[in-house]
Amino acid sequence: MVKAQWPRIVMRRHDNLDAEAGDRGGRKRCQLSLHHASHLLPIIASKRQYAYNWPMLEKPRLADPFLRPITYLRVSVTDRCDFRCTYCMSENMEFLPKRDLLSLEELDRICTLFIRLGVRKLRITGGEPLVRRGIMEFFTRISRHLGDGLDELTLTTNGSQLARFAGHLWEAGVRRVNVSLDTLDDEKFSEITRWGRLKQVLNGIETARDTGLRIKINTVALKGFNENELFLLTDWCADHDMDITFIEVMPMGNIESQQRLGSYWPLSDLRRRLATRFTLTDIPLRTGGPARYVRAEENGQRIGFITPLTHNFCESCNRVRLTCAGELFMCLGQDDKAEFRDLMRSYPNDDDPIIEAIRDAIRRKPRGHDFDYSRRRVAGRVPRHMSHTGG
Ligand SMILES: C[S@@+](CC[C@H](N)C(=O)[O-])C[C@H]1O[C@@H](n2cnc3c(N)ncnc32)[C@H](O)[C@@H]1O
Ligand code: SF4
Repeated sequence: MVKAQWPRIVMRRHDNLDAEAGDRGGRKRCQLSLHHASHLLPIIASKRQYAYNWPMLEKPRLADPFLRPITYLRVSVTDRCDFRCTYCMSENMEFLPKRDLLSLEELDRICTLFIRLGVRKLRITGGEPLVRRGIMEFFTRISRHLGDGLDELTLTTNGSQLARFAGHLWEAGVRRVNVSLDTLDDEKFSEITRWGRLKQVLNGIETARDTGLRIKINTVALKGFNENELFLLTDWCADHDMDITFIEVMPMGNIESQQRLGSYWPLSDLRRRLATRFTLTDIPLRTGGPARYVRAEENGQRIGFITPLTHNFCESCNRVRLTCAGELFMCLGQDDKAEFRDLMRSYPNDDDPIIEAIRDAIRRKPRGHDFDYSRRRVAGRVPRHMSHTGG
């Protein structure tokens, strides 16, 4: 008989709550919310010890029903973009009217509330975040939280505007930037982004590196498209001292399913191919996101894998996503959402209802997504485009 166990609650002085269900019998109890756990703690620890071990409990914390602490907020600041990547957008996208977008002040307000509630990492994304008008003002203002609740302010960009904004970003305290780049071939770049120019992006990357920003390249693995550039891309990143992360293409947006199925390249296969040339060692590096890393022993290159399909990364999910229209998605691959734009507009001077709504939303965070390409069909697809939710 399986013996029921309480979840193991590990308290660390400067860390967040970690909990594990010991076995199947423990799973149900593991679904206790942090609210319940915080009521139990005084029973198992003296008040003094409790304050020593877990000082941040003095601040209100966020944890989901599976006791995963929510410490990472991704914010899509616009659904617009100067590219039209084929796996992300259709060519004739319809964008939200401006009045539906959160203003920069509203974005600041809600991000600030999340930081008060325990979010330590903010990633600004989109659409293309650097095409949002006035976005540098937002970076400058929100950077006041760095070192005071916020550990990292960062962004994901297609790189087209980096040459222009790298200096501002550095001044706002940004130190690491993810740049999406799927090919080093001019023509293929135009094909996959429809509207992009490779030269402009490479120039942006160079300027950002000269400014001191650390760049990580994100590459969507696309069968029949960049398979033959696997080593070219990896070597290029190694030569420029940049990490590279490969991403499995996800079934998002109403992009024709057979096209997506055809371009799906499982990272298990990509990794096997890398291993024909490199000795790959798993490394425990965690950057707060879903990537898992290896080191290529021959050149020391770090290579990340984001594998929502072949290896579901949900168990350690610490993230939620806010769209530019103020919707909070608790999971990239599920439809449930909470709406904040009208709520914030109804309570311009009172944050309590917003805080309550954030807590309520986090209590609904699901265990994980249902993406599945097995049996030659696309399952678990979500109709939103990645540019809407923020990748
Ligand atoms: C939606 S974009 C937004 C930020 C910026 N425009 C960029 O391209 O980096 C964020 C990331 O999502 C990735 N992405 C978009 N659609 C995807 C999909 N269907 N599957 C996997 N990744 C996707 C992009 O490659 C990019 O790395
Ligand atoms: S992946 Fe990024 S750059 Fe490409 S269309 Fe989507 S939002 Fe734009």
